[in-house]
Amino acid sequence: MINRADLPEFVEIVEVGPRDGLQNEKSLVSVEDKVALVDQLSATGLSKIEVGSFVSPKWVPQMANSDQVLAQIKRHQNICYSALTPNLRGFEDAVDANVDEVAVFGAASESFTQKNINCSIAESLERFSPIFTEAKKRNIPVRGYVSCVLGCPYEGQISHQSVIDVCDSLLNMGCYQISLGDTIGVGTPLATQALLSAVLSRFPKEKIAMHFHDTYGQALANVLASLQQGIACFDASVAGLGGCPYAKGASGNLATEDLIYMLNNMQINTGVDLDLLIAAGQDISQKLQRLNNSKVGQACSS
Ligand code: HMG
Ligand code: MG
Repeated sequence: MINRADLPEFVEIVEVGPRDGLQNEKSLVSVEDKVALVDQLSATGLSKIEVGSFVSPKWVPQMANSDQVLAQIKRHQNICYSALTPNLRGFEDAVDANVDEVAVFGAASESFTQKNINCSIAESLERFSPIFTEAKKRNIPVRGYVSCVLGCPYEGQISHQSVIDVCDSLLNMGCYQISLGDTIGVGTPLATQALLSAVLSRFPKEKIAMHFHDTYGQALANVLASLQQGIACFDASVAGLGGCPYAKGASGNLATEDLIYMLNNMQINTGVDLDLLIAAGQDISQKLQRLNNSKVGQACSS
């Protein structure tokens, strides 16, 4: 039985559509379309929007115009606009683009770390280290991602201990929160619960967010399993856009519309206006000429 009293009153959503959602698109999405998307998202009541990445344009060409997007969006004072930064160079570019927050991204899998950022886990932590020093000087919060927490496209199963070790390093270095990524969407509710039991025996629940991809249609079930363990921050992507270019088979993230619909109907507050969000999802799906991957978006727009 689901006991409403055991679930959080408020859930924070980190909208990752403009970054995780669009990074995998084959044809270049224009600055204008990205800016329009972020501006629409800003009007929905979301408090956190991941706008882009400051990574090598040879590795992820789609994110090469992130600085222009950040320069052209209409900023709302109460919204945190963030970006991914893999190294000091990326951090400095992100600061020049006036981000409110940055995110470093590691993984619990050695092979995925190699494929994604071309180094070992230990080397990735060394590369992140100067970001924390500089971020502290400038008062910029650093979020941390740990990918492949419920499975890796190259190694298969990943141990809870590997996840905990990377979380431990990133939290010690100064991340205010870790987002645990089911990068290829292979997790199921019992696996999610087992992982969270292990992770939450080491770290407070306030330090942990969950980031589900919906490859096998398990994302909402995994959210429910996470809510039952007290997790109150989730990443999601409008219209279920997304995928990681270095994780074969990774489909879109959990659609933000589907998440908000479920939370609204469980009387869990998010501060997000579902109708405005659905409109944003429809518009970007039309611009990309693809089916809206949000079930709620489909149901409400047909
Ligand atoms: P590298 O080749 O090992 O690094 O790449 P390098 O230092 O030798 O540099 C290579 C080239 O990139 C050089 O240019 C550098 O100047 C340039 P060249 O001399 O060849 O012309 N460079 C940069 N350019 C712009 N911005 C930078 C930067 N750094 C170097 N910051 C590197 C290492 C990390 C740069 C590369 O592997 C990379 O950019 N990887 C990006 C991978 C990525 O963005 N993946 C997707 C995001 S992660 C994800 O989606 C998972 C997540 O959603 C959670 C989940 O679902 O689990 C977060
Ligand atoms: Mg992702």
